[in-house]
Amino acid sequence: MIPLVKTRIPPRHVLMPVLEEVLYSGYVAQGDTVEEFERRFEEFVEGGSSLSLNSGTAALHIALILAGVSDGDEVISTALTAEPTNVAIKMAGGRIRYADIDPKTMNISPDSIRNSLTSSTKAIMVVDYAGIPVDVDRIRQISEDSGIPVIHDAAHSLGSRFNGKRSGTHFPLTAFSFQAIKHITTIDGGILQVSDPELYEKGKLIRWFGIDKNHNRLQNNIRFQGYKYHMNNVNAAVGLCQLIDVKDVIEKHVSNGRFFDVALSGIPGIELLNYYEGSEPSYWLYTMLVDNREGLVQKLHERGVVASVLHKRSDAHEYLNDFRIELPILNKAYDRLLHIPCGWWVTSEDRERIVEIVRSGW
Ligand SMILES: Cc1ncc(COP(=O)(O)O)c(C=O)c1O
Repeated sequence: MIPLVKTRIPPRHVLMPVLEEVLYSGYVAQGDTVEEFERRFEEFVEGGSSLSLNSGTAALHIALILAGVSDGDEVISTALTAEPTNVAIKMAGGRIRYADIDPKTMNISPDSIRNSLTSSTKAIMVVDYAGIPVDVDRIRQISEDSGIPVIHDAAHSLGSRFNGKRSGTHFPLTAFSFQAIKHITTIDGGILQVSDPELYEKGKLIRWFGIDKNHNRLQNNIRFQGYKYHMNNVNAAVGLCQLIDVKDVIEKHVSNGRFFDVALSGIPGIELLNYYEGSEPSYWLYTMLVDNREGLVQKLHERGVVASVLHKRSDAHEYLNDFRIELPILNKAYDRLLHIPCGWWVTSEDRERIVEIVRSGW
């Protein structure tokens, strides 16, 4: 079977010596290896400072706190995402006000964001769903006009670009996830990319109980709620090995995604997405809209390819549905939405085979 998602562990001869050194160094907690991973990640993103964490969810939680979200504040978000995006809003005490999606990309609609602003809106959460960039220019404009900060959930879009710049540089706070099946994994882990140096320093305190590591424990005075969210040297060592060839990994996703963009176009029953001008997706998964979705899923399955919807829409979870807002565009698209594999493990023969199966009808 060609899986829809796959965990990528660096080759044994690359990973094991690095891991062994850290494991027996006498220092496995947050230390120099974490520091090095952050600096290397900053070089990759080319903008902002990297705050390494033990999950992408922790990155979103800290981002929401830094954006000032607390009990009762509204956060505009999308229902088409993995649950952590919206669970994190609840962790910060926020209430989720869903905006509808843009049928072009399946990402949050800038028009719907504008219509969802209220006097209680404290932040706007946007997600590059499945690796496709959001409408960065228009969302930035809304943020500028309204003074409401944007939090970018880029868990799916490591390495994507908009106007030539990588995800992590478009908005003041961007969350990445290195959970098992993302472009790169640290087994579990995440990074919050922060553009403002003061917020970055505050983020450091929040990630470790509110304690300032620059001062000794007895000199510290905790002034606000912090958490145990830091990354440790072991996970960072895995991350450093992943960064060695992260560009090649992303390039494989992109090459497969671009291949499907061309090879699947014009097939009856398939509607492809229409990315925003200036955007270069990093195709974590390949996303399309399909008539008789179950028929195609079954046919692909019979021929050895896993295809799936992957995520339940967040507003279908009782706890994540604060305002019971109608989302007509998502309603229309959701039953036709399908992801097919397009990651680093999909070979040229695999992608040809997938296209041939789809072309032959279902
Ligand atoms: C869109 C999205 N946001 C956030 C997360 C949370 O990341 P993590 O699992 O590292 O906490 C995930 C992945 O699980 C995700 O898919």
